[in-house]
Amino acid sequence: MQKIILTGDRPTGRLHVGHYAGSLKERVELQNSGEYDKVFIMIADAQALTDNAEHPEKVRQNVLEVALDYLACGIDPEKSTIFIQSAVPQLTELTSYYMNLVTVSRVQRNPTVKTEIKMRNFEASIPVGFFTYPISQAADITAFRATAVPVGEDQLPMLEQCKEIVAKFNAVYGETLTEPEIILPGNKACLRLPGLDGKAKMSKSLGNCIYLADEEDVVKQKIMSMYTDPDHIRVQDPGKVEGNPVFIYLDAFSRPEHFAEFLPEYANLDELKAHYQRGGLGDVKVKKFLNSVMQAELAPIRERRKMWEARLDDVKMILKRGSETAREAAAATLHDVRAAMQINYFENWNI
Ligand code: TRP
Repeated sequence: MQKIILTGDRPTGRLHVGHYAGSLKERVELQNSGEYDKVFIMIADAQALTDNAEHPEKVRQNVLEVALDYLACGIDPEKSTIFIQSAVPQLTELTSYYMNLVTVSRVQRNPTVKTEIKMRNFEASIPVGFFTYPISQAADITAFRATAVPVGEDQLPMLEQCKEIVAKFNAVYGETLTEPEIILPGNKACLRLPGLDGKAKMSKSLGNCIYLADEEDVVKQKIMSMYTDPDHIRVQDPGKVEGNPVFIYLDAFSRPEHFAEFLPEYANLDELKAHYQRGGLGDVKVKKFLNSVMQAELAPIRERRKMWEARLDDVKMILKRGSETAREAAAATLHDVRAAMQINYFENWNI
């Protein structure tokens, strides 16, 4: 069996370091590992429209931004197919067949859908398209016969729902669809990077993110004003590292060679943490180190982004070609699905 990756993001804003740590970095590594036969990366504009029906311009403008962020992070169009979801209409047809295999109460129990409904204050006014997006996500994954789906932890319930749909389809119509496996980042600190203000999540509306496209001075200013341990008032006070965003970011991004380069008086993060906990280590010093680490990580990304920004026509062409490739792959699966359901009448009748 071929090893195939499918993953994607909703284009509702530029991507930030939470996306990068939580999934993008892993995707680039998987792409470069050479272990996968195919890699599909989808800009999920149709899914983004499920809760932005009245703001299509927001989604449209961010399609290219997300494509630039992908390319900036090192997604390589020679190795990965980057495409736009709405350019693959086969996904919608698959979704409509899968809808018959899922109950309303099952979708209502999906924890991600539940949280999102609360977050958006939808209550009684949930758009039908939004409610059913877990089903369309199962179509996205299975259309490409994905065996691996590298995403953030928040997408786990979507993968569970997808596996159920695959099992049900195969049980009813015979072995047709491939069961996918989720791939989460190996570094636990990357699973959920908190916001700069210490809130649980980075989110555009809270204004607590570092964006991949942020300039050097913006990144620095954001880091220097990060929330830390509120009880660590004087330098000599003992400080907490648990739940302290500055240390969580260091857990996610710092490597021993960063210490050798930027903070040689400590051998590694454990030593730095121990000093902070003992007292006598000021926040400014830790933040300056975090700034050096983040700048080292983000500088090549920023440079590649600028390079692609100057070649926007090439980026558009990459998306157009990628969408053609994706359409062909999805059409082949749809053909098999229709055959399994025996609704491929004209083929059967041989006329
Ligand atoms: N739900 C994902 C997000 O919120 C985007 C997405 C749509 C996706 N379809 C997918 C991710 C299929 C992985 C696989 O960003």
